[in-house]
Amino acid sequence: MSDIDLVEVRDYLVLLALEAGDLITSKTGKTTYDDKANAVDLVTETDAAVELLVSKKLKERFPDFEFMGEESYVPGVTKLTDKPTFVVDPIDGTTNFIHSFPFSCTSLGFTINRKPVVGVVYNPFLKLMYTAIKGYGAFLNDQHLPLRTPPADVSLTLQTALIAVEWGTQRSGTNYKVKTDTFHKLAAADGGFIHGFRSLGSAAMNTCAVAAGQVDAYWEGGCYAWDVAAAWIILEEAGGRMVGGNPGIWEPAVDERVYLAVRGGEGAEKFISDFWDNIVGKLEY
Ligand code: IPD
Ligand code: CA
Repeated sequence: MSDIDLVEVRDYLVLLALEAGDLITSKTGKTTYDDKANAVDLVTETDAAVELLVSKKLKERFPDFEFMGEESYVPGVTKLTDKPTFVVDPIDGTTNFIHSFPFSCTSLGFTINRKPVVGVVYNPFLKLMYTAIKGYGAFLNDQHLPLRTPPADVSLTLQTALIAVEWGTQRSGTNYKVKTDTFHKLAAADGGFIHGFRSLGSAAMNTCAVAAGQVDAYWEGGCYAWDVAAAWIILEEAGGRMVGGNPGIWEPAVDERVYLAVRGGEGAEKFISDFWDNIVGKLEY
């Protein structure tokens, strides 16, 4: 790892993210979509076009590094290894892109030994460029993260939390029930009684909002390594942490598929335990 210039990697990922952003915005409102697993799991031709652009340029510039991307992923075949690997979601928030809701982004992560060490997440609609290198802090454009440091007397507690969640694309079965039962319990006056839920429609955007301190946590089940790898290091470098989305997983794998992202601040461990106590059942993907 030591001989890899992570600043060079970050700088190149920023250039690629800008280029991908131009392609994405040029196609807004002009794209058709197809279904994948079901009628709410959507993909457009722009997802594939952006991944092709990014993978080709990364191969040319860093021929020795591996590449994992959502659109070229082959279930059961593609595996994240210990080798230096770009982990890419060309468009995270495809449903947003289809609806012109301006929260889609390109998520460009770089892992070594299956740990995220560089992350670039770019939302070209709002011109939000989130970046981080392990050990060097996290940024939104040129501002240090977190943007919002809650006052010292507002420590991280479940009851005062604003929590990002997503309904996901599985709308039946056990995982759907675990999610919706947990939403009910977290919201209820006799349950978590949290301040509220938010859904930005993109795992990377949600996690970056946690890194920024704009929401307190993000709970997710069903997304993949490419949805979280880049934002994960942005979150960690902003002082937050990623744990498992099922109870007891303090050190989740990048491809764990169930996650709880928590902002930095006093009381994080108790917050995580309290959150886990409100999960009704177990998510399994
Ligand atoms: C999806 C989004 C969504 C999350 C899903 C992801 P996509 O990614 O990040 O917020 O709930 O699990 O699959 O399909 O827009 O790349
Ligand atoms: Ca995607």
